[in-house]
Amino acid sequence: MALSQKDLLGLRGVSAAEISEILNTAELMKVILASNNKKTPHLQGKTIMTVFYENSTRTRLSFELASKYMGGVAANMSASGSSVAKGETLVDTARTLDRMASDVLILRHPMTGAPHLMAKHVKASVINAGDGANEHPTQALLDMFTMKEKLGGISGLKVAIVGDVTHSRVARSNLWGLTTMGAQVTLAGPPTLLPPDGALEATGCRVTECVDDAVREADVVMGLRIQLERQQKGLFPSVREYHKFFGLTPERVGLAKKGALVMHPGPVNRGVEIASIVADGESSPNSDGYRSVIDEQVTNGVAVRMALLFLLTRRNG
Ligand code: CP
Repeated sequence: MALSQKDLLGLRGVSAAEISEILNTAELMKVILASNNKKTPHLQGKTIMTVFYENSTRTRLSFELASKYMGGVAANMSASGSSVAKGETLVDTARTLDRMASDVLILRHPMTGAPHLMAKHVKASVINAGDGANEHPTQALLDMFTMKEKLGGISGLKVAIVGDVTHSRVARSNLWGLTTMGAQVTLAGPPTLLPPDGALEATGCRVTECVDDAVREADVVMGLRIQLERQQKGLFPSVREYHKFFGLTPERVGLAKKGALVMHPGPVNRGVEIASIVADGESSPNSDGYRSVIDEQVTNGVAVRMALLFLLTRRNG
Protein backbone atom coordinates (compact mmCIF):
# COMPACT_ATOMS: atom_id res chain seq x y z
CA MET A 1 0.00 0.00 0.00
CA ALA A 2 1.06 3.61 -0.49
CA LEU A 3 -0.12 6.78 1.25
CA SER A 4 -2.99 8.65 -0.38
CA GLN A 5 -1.45 12.08 0.08
CA LYS A 6 1.62 13.59 -1.62
CA ASP A 7 2.98 15.09 1.61
CA LEU A 8 3.08 14.47 5.35
CA LEU A 9 2.51 17.92 6.82
CA GLY A 10 0.97 16.88 10.12
CA LEU A 11 -1.07 14.15 11.80
CA ARG A 12 -4.19 16.26 12.11
CA GLY A 13 -6.65 14.67 9.69
CA VAL A 14 -4.52 11.59 8.93
CA SER A 15 -6.72 8.51 9.25
CA ALA A 16 -6.22 5.62 11.67
CA ALA A 17 -5.80 3.31 8.65
CA GLU A 18 -2.92 5.39 7.28
CA ILE A 19 -1.21 5.69 10.66
CA SER A 20 -1.53 1.91 11.07
CA GLU A 21 -0.06 1.39 7.60
CA ILE A 22 3.00 3.47 8.50
CA LEU A 23 3.44 1.70 11.86
CA ASN A 24 3.05 -1.77 10.31
CA THR A 25 5.58 -0.93 7.58
CA ALA A 26 7.97 0.40 10.24
CA GLU A 27 7.82 -3.00 11.95
CA LEU A 28 9.26 -4.58 8.78
CA MET A 29 11.84 -1.80 8.50
CA LYS A 30 12.97 -2.41 12.07
CA VAL A 31 13.80 -6.01 11.17
CA ILE A 32 16.07 -4.71 8.38
CA LEU A 33 17.59 -2.17 10.78
CA ALA A 34 18.41 -4.88 13.32
CA SER A 35 20.01 -7.13 10.71
CA ASN A 36 23.68 -7.29 9.78
CA ASN A 37 22.94 -6.00 6.30
CA LYS A 38 21.13 -2.67 6.48
CA LYS A 39 20.89 -2.31 2.71
CA THR A 40 17.64 -2.47 0.76
CA PRO A 41 16.64 -1.23 -2.71
CA HIS A 42 13.39 0.45 -1.56
CA LEU A 43 14.61 3.97 -2.47
CA GLN A 44 16.81 3.11 -5.43
CA GLY A 45 16.76 5.98 -7.92
CA LYS A 46 15.16 8.38 -5.42
CA THR A 47 16.66 11.60 -4.09
CA ILE A 48 15.87 12.72 -0.54
CA MET A 49 16.88 16.16 0.74
CA THR A 50 16.76 17.42 4.33
CA VAL A 51 16.26 21.19 4.53
CA PHE A 52 16.80 22.38 8.08
CA TYR A 53 16.36 25.98 9.28
CA GLU A 54 16.71 24.83 12.92
CA ASN A 55 19.16 22.56 14.70
CA SER A 56 18.59 18.82 14.91
CA THR A 57 20.44 15.61 15.68
CA ARG A 58 17.86 12.82 15.74
CA THR A 59 15.40 13.85 13.04
CA ARG A 60 17.92 14.94 10.48
CA LEU A 61 20.37 12.07 10.89
CA SER A 62 17.64 9.43 11.04
CA PHE A 63 16.16 10.68 7.75
CA GLU A 64 19.61 10.73 6.17
CA LEU A 65 20.45 7.22 7.40
CA ALA A 66 17.00 5.91 6.44
CA SER A 67 17.57 7.19 2.87
CA LYS A 68 21.02 5.63 2.68
CA TYR A 69 19.99 2.27 4.18
CA MET A 70 17.34 2.01 1.45
CA GLY A 71 19.65 2.87 -1.44
CA GLY A 72 18.46 6.45 -2.03
CA VAL A 73 20.58 9.53 -2.67
CA ALA A 74 20.61 11.73 0.44
CA ALA A 75 21.58 15.41 0.47
CA ASN A 76 21.40 17.93 3.32
CA MET A 77 20.93 21.68 3.39
CA SER A 78 21.13 23.94 6.45
CA ALA A 79 19.93 27.53 6.47
CA SER A 80 23.31 28.69 7.72
CA GLY A 81 25.93 28.16 5.05
CA SER A 82 23.33 28.18 2.23
CA SER A 83 21.87 30.98 0.10
CA VAL A 84 19.18 31.43 2.77
CA ALA A 85 21.87 33.43 4.58
CA LYS A 86 21.97 35.72 1.50
CA GLY A 87 18.23 36.36 1.78
CA GLU A 88 16.75 33.72 -0.54
CA THR A 89 13.09 33.10 0.27
CA LEU A 90 11.68 29.76 1.35
CA VAL A 91 9.67 29.44 -1.88
CA ASP A 92 12.70 30.21 -4.08
CA THR A 93 14.79 27.73 -2.10
CA ALA A 94 12.05 25.11 -2.46
CA ARG A 95 11.76 25.63 -6.22
CA THR A 96 15.54 25.40 -6.57
CA LEU A 97 15.73 22.09 -4.70
CA ASP A 98 12.71 20.74 -6.59
CA ARG A 99 14.48 21.48 -9.90
CA MET A 100 17.37 19.26 -8.81
CA ALA A 101 15.06 16.26 -9.33
CA SER A 102 14.43 15.67 -5.65
CA ASP A 103 11.69 13.20 -4.77
CA VAL A 104 11.25 14.09 -1.10
CA LEU A 105 12.01 17.36 0.70
CA ILE A 106 12.13 17.16 4.50
CA LEU A 107 11.72 20.58 6.09
CA ARG A 108 12.30 21.85 9.62
CA HIS A 109 11.45 25.52 10.04
CA PRO A 110 10.70 27.88 12.95
CA MET A 111 7.55 29.18 11.25
CA THR A 112 4.22 27.37 11.61
CA GLY A 113 2.96 26.45 8.14
CA ALA A 114 6.33 26.61 6.35
CA PRO A 115 6.08 22.98 5.08
CA HIS A 116 2.53 23.66 3.84
CA LEU A 117 3.83 26.66 1.86
CA MET A 118 6.71 24.62 0.46
CA ALA A 119 4.39 21.76 -0.55
CA LYS A 120 2.30 24.14 -2.67
CA HIS A 121 5.31 25.08 -4.79
CA VAL A 122 7.06 21.77 -5.44
CA LYS A 123 6.40 18.48 -7.21
CA ALA A 124 8.42 16.55 -4.61
CA SER A 125 6.73 15.12 -1.53
CA VAL A 126 7.24 17.31 1.54
CA ILE A 127 7.64 15.91 5.05
CA ASN A 128 7.25 18.24 8.02
CA ALA A 129 10.23 17.67 10.34
CA GLY A 130 8.92 20.27 12.80
CA ASP A 131 7.30 23.67 12.09
CA GLY A 132 7.35 26.15 14.95
CA ALA A 133 5.05 25.04 17.76
CA ASN A 134 2.66 23.42 15.29
CA GLU A 135 3.51 19.80 14.45
CA HIS A 136 6.32 17.23 14.37
CA PRO A 137 4.46 14.30 12.84
CA THR A 138 7.35 11.86 12.45
CA GLN A 139 8.19 12.24 16.15
CA ALA A 140 4.61 11.30 17.08
CA LEU A 141 4.70 8.35 14.66
CA LEU A 142 7.86 7.01 16.26
CA ASP A 143 6.35 7.58 19.71
CA MET A 144 3.21 5.64 18.74
CA PHE A 145 5.36 2.90 17.18
CA THR A 146 7.24 2.57 20.47
CA MET A 147 4.01 2.39 22.49
CA LYS A 148 2.58 -0.26 20.16
CA GLU A 149 5.82 -2.25 20.22
CA LYS A 150 6.14 -2.22 24.01
CA LEU A 151 2.49 -2.32 25.10
CA GLY A 152 0.90 -4.24 22.23
CA GLY A 153 -1.39 -1.49 20.93
CA ILE A 154 -2.43 2.14 21.26
CA SER A 155 -6.22 2.10 21.63
CA GLY A 156 -7.27 2.55 25.25
CA LEU A 157 -3.84 3.60 26.53
CA LYS A 158 -3.72 6.41 29.10
CA VAL A 159 -0.98 8.78 27.97
CA ALA A 160 0.20 11.69 30.13
CA ILE A 161 2.12 14.37 28.19
CA VAL A 162 3.87 16.62 30.68
CA GLY A 163 5.69 19.95 30.47
CA ASP A 164 5.92 22.84 28.05
CA VAL A 165 2.78 22.08 26.03
CA THR A 166 2.40 25.61 24.65
CA HIS A 167 5.64 25.52 22.71
CA SER A 168 5.58 21.80 21.86
CA ARG A 169 4.97 20.57 18.32
CA VAL A 170 5.63 17.07 19.68
CA ALA A 171 2.65 17.42 22.05
CA ARG A 172 0.37 18.58 19.25
CA SER A 173 1.27 15.81 16.80
CA ASN A 174 0.96 13.20 19.55
CA LEU A 175 -2.40 14.63 20.53
CA TRP A 176 -3.77 14.32 16.99
CA GLY A 177 -2.23 10.90 16.36
CA LEU A 178 -3.02 9.32 19.71
CA THR A 179 -6.64 10.48 19.83
CA THR A 180 -7.15 9.19 16.26
CA MET A 181 -5.77 5.83 17.39
CA GLY A 182 -8.10 5.69 20.41
CA ALA A 183 -5.76 6.62 23.29
CA GLN A 184 -6.82 8.86 26.20
CA VAL A 185 -4.47 11.84 26.38
CA THR A 186 -3.90 14.12 29.38
CA LEU A 187 -1.78 17.24 28.93
CA ALA A 188 -0.20 18.62 32.09
CA GLY A 189 2.12 21.44 33.05
CA PRO A 190 2.31 24.83 34.71
CA PRO A 191 -0.56 27.15 33.73
CA THR A 192 1.88 29.48 31.93
CA LEU A 193 2.94 26.59 29.65
CA LEU A 194 -0.55 25.29 28.86
CA PRO A 195 -2.57 26.77 25.97
CA PRO A 196 -5.05 29.21 27.53
CA ASP A 197 -8.00 29.04 25.18
CA GLY A 198 -9.32 25.52 25.78
CA ALA A 199 -8.77 24.73 22.09
CA LEU A 200 -6.97 21.47 22.82
CA GLU A 201 -9.75 20.12 25.04
CA ALA A 202 -11.97 20.12 21.94
CA THR A 203 -10.02 17.04 20.77
CA GLY A 204 -11.31 15.12 23.78
CA CYS A 205 -8.07 15.31 25.77
CA ARG A 206 -7.88 16.39 29.41
CA VAL A 207 -5.76 19.37 30.44
CA THR A 208 -4.57 19.79 34.02
CA GLU A 209 -2.07 21.83 36.02
CA CYS A 210 -1.56 18.87 38.38
CA VAL A 211 1.16 16.60 37.01
CA ASP A 212 0.58 13.98 39.74
CA ASP A 213 -3.02 13.74 38.62
CA ALA A 214 -2.03 13.26 34.98
CA VAL A 215 0.61 10.64 35.74
CA ARG A 216 -1.43 8.57 38.23
CA GLU A 217 -2.30 5.20 36.62
CA ALA A 218 -0.94 6.28 33.22
CA ASP A 219 0.40 3.64 30.80
CA VAL A 220 2.77 6.14 29.24
CA VAL A 221 4.41 9.24 30.74
CA MET A 222 5.93 11.51 28.12
CA GLY A 223 8.12 14.41 29.23
CA LEU A 224 8.44 17.46 27.00
CA ARG A 225 11.59 19.50 26.64
CA ILE A 226 11.51 22.96 28.15
CA GLN A 227 12.13 25.01 25.01
CA LEU A 228 14.25 27.77 26.43
CA GLU A 229 14.88 29.07 22.89
CA ARG A 230 11.16 29.77 22.33
CA GLN A 231 10.30 31.34 25.67
CA GLN A 232 9.94 34.84 26.87
CA LYS A 233 11.37 35.28 30.33
CA GLY A 234 9.35 34.50 33.45
CA LEU A 235 7.13 31.58 32.41
CA PHE A 236 8.27 29.66 35.48
CA PRO A 237 10.09 30.94 38.56
CA SER A 238 13.27 28.83 38.44
CA VAL A 239 14.59 25.58 37.01
CA ARG A 240 14.82 24.11 40.53
CA GLU A 241 11.18 24.88 41.28
CA TYR A 242 10.08 23.69 37.83
CA HIS A 243 11.73 20.33 38.48
CA LYS A 244 10.22 20.05 41.95
CA PHE A 245 6.63 20.86 40.95
CA PHE A 246 6.40 19.71 37.31
CA GLY A 247 9.45 17.54 36.57
CA LEU A 248 9.42 13.75 36.09
CA THR A 249 11.00 12.67 39.36
CA PRO A 250 11.14 8.99 40.45
CA GLU A 251 8.42 9.64 43.04
CA ARG A 252 6.10 11.22 40.49
CA VAL A 253 6.66 8.63 37.75
CA GLY A 254 6.14 5.94 40.43
CA LEU A 255 2.46 6.97 40.45
CA ALA A 256 2.01 5.55 36.95
CA LYS A 257 0.90 1.96 36.26
CA LYS A 258 3.40 -0.81 36.90
CA GLY A 259 5.37 -1.29 33.69
CA ALA A 260 4.53 2.23 32.42
CA LEU A 261 6.75 3.65 29.70
CA VAL A 262 8.74 6.83 30.28
CA MET A 263 9.29 8.66 27.01
CA HIS A 264 10.95 11.89 25.92
CA PRO A 265 11.56 13.15 22.36
CA GLY A 266 15.03 14.47 23.21
CA PRO A 267 17.20 16.35 23.61
CA VAL A 268 16.75 15.99 27.38
CA ASN A 269 17.32 18.82 29.86
CA ARG A 270 18.51 16.62 32.72
CA GLY A 271 17.32 17.76 36.13
CA VAL A 272 14.77 20.14 34.59
CA GLU A 273 11.83 18.34 32.97
CA ILE A 274 13.14 14.88 33.87
CA ALA A 275 15.52 13.48 36.51
CA SER A 276 18.55 11.65 35.14
CA ILE A 277 17.69 8.55 37.14
CA VAL A 278 14.28 8.42 35.41
CA ALA A 279 15.63 9.15 31.92
CA ASP A 280 18.33 6.50 32.30
CA GLY A 281 15.99 3.89 33.86
CA GLU A 282 16.08 0.29 32.70
CA SER A 283 14.08 -0.71 29.67
CA SER A 284 12.44 -3.49 31.69
CA PRO A 285 10.28 -2.42 34.65
CA ASN A 286 12.46 -1.45 37.63
CA SER A 287 11.57 -1.71 41.31
CA ASP A 288 9.48 1.46 41.00
CA GLY A 289 7.56 -0.13 38.13
CA TYR A 290 8.39 2.18 35.25
CA ARG A 291 10.83 1.78 32.36
CA SER A 292 12.53 4.39 30.20
CA VAL A 293 12.37 3.75 26.45
CA ILE A 294 14.06 7.00 25.42
CA ASP A 295 16.97 5.21 23.71
CA GLU A 296 14.60 2.88 21.87
CA GLN A 297 12.63 5.87 20.61
CA VAL A 298 15.76 6.96 18.76
CA THR A 299 16.17 3.59 17.02
CA ASN A 300 12.47 3.47 16.21
CA GLY A 301 12.78 6.91 14.64
CA VAL A 302 14.96 5.43 11.90
CA ALA A 303 12.52 2.55 11.26
CA VAL A 304 9.51 4.88 11.09
CA ARG A 305 11.28 7.29 8.74
CA MET A 306 12.34 4.39 6.51
CA ALA A 307 8.68 3.33 6.34
CA LEU A 308 7.46 6.81 5.57
CA LEU A 309 10.00 7.45 2.81
CA PHE A 310 9.12 4.10 1.25
CA LEU A 311 5.36 4.70 1.36
CA LEU A 312 5.55 8.28 0.04
CA THR A 313 7.90 7.45 -2.84
CA ARG A 314 5.89 4.34 -3.79
CA ARG A 315 2.96 6.63 -4.37
CA ASN A 316 4.81 8.16 -7.32
CA GLY A 317 5.98 4.82 -8.71
N1 CP B 1 13.17 14.95 18.88
C1 CP B 1 13.79 15.72 17.98
O1 CP B 1 13.16 16.29 17.08
O2 CP B 1 15.14 15.80 18.14
P1 CP B 1 16.13 16.62 17.21
O3 CP B 1 15.85 18.09 17.46
O4 CP B 1 17.51 16.22 17.67
O5 CP B 1 15.86 16.27 15.79
